[in-house]
Amino acid sequence: MLRKATQVLEEEHRVIQGMAASLAIVAEDIEKRKPVDGETLHNFVTFLDVFVQRCHHRKEETYLFAILEKKGVPTEGCPLAVLNNEHAKLRSLSSQFADSVELYTATQGQARVSLQKTIHALLELLPGHIWKEDYLLFPMADKLLSPEEQELLLTQFENVEARIGPNIHHDFERLAKRMEVTAQHP
Ligand SMILES: [Fe+2]
Ligand SMILES: [Fe+2]
Repeated sequence: MLRKATQVLEEEHRVIQGMAASLAIVAEDIEKRKPVDGETLHNFVTFLDVFVQRCHHRKEETYLFAILEKKGVPTEGCPLAVLNNEHAKLRSLSSQFADSVELYTATQGQARVSLQKTIHALLELLPGHIWKEDYLLFPMADKLLSPEEQELLLTQFENVEARIGPNIHHDFERLAKRMEVTAQHP
């Protein structure tokens, strides 16, 4: 076996962390009342919707969590119920973020409090969530899953990506890099 499905998710975590670091820089600008352009903010909206929700969380919830449940990992408590719960929170924060961005851009930066609060909540939740998956969930999955099951997951992950678009990884890795540069040198 060349690659494990959990490695794909770990690599996606690195892209998400890169975007979160850029978002933290943008948040500082918003707090200092420096204007942040709509395109930058909409890129974060797209990233959260497409890369985090439709790609990464779909792979985790629909396939990884599901196969772990089948293997007898309890659906109550830690880690699965806790992680599912955090996904639900991230989902609602992402749509709150999209609404706050609309309001912020429509008011030329006047309505910044809700945007600041939402970014704050997102940046507070993400690191702990990623940590639990990297250090608790994936090592547990690697112990429980056979090479064939990892292989099956890899195929399912490829199908998720194919449904979204053929270059999703490449496109979003490039976007994350671009956002990193934009955030540091606006
Ligand atoms: Fe997750
Ligand atoms: Fe994850």
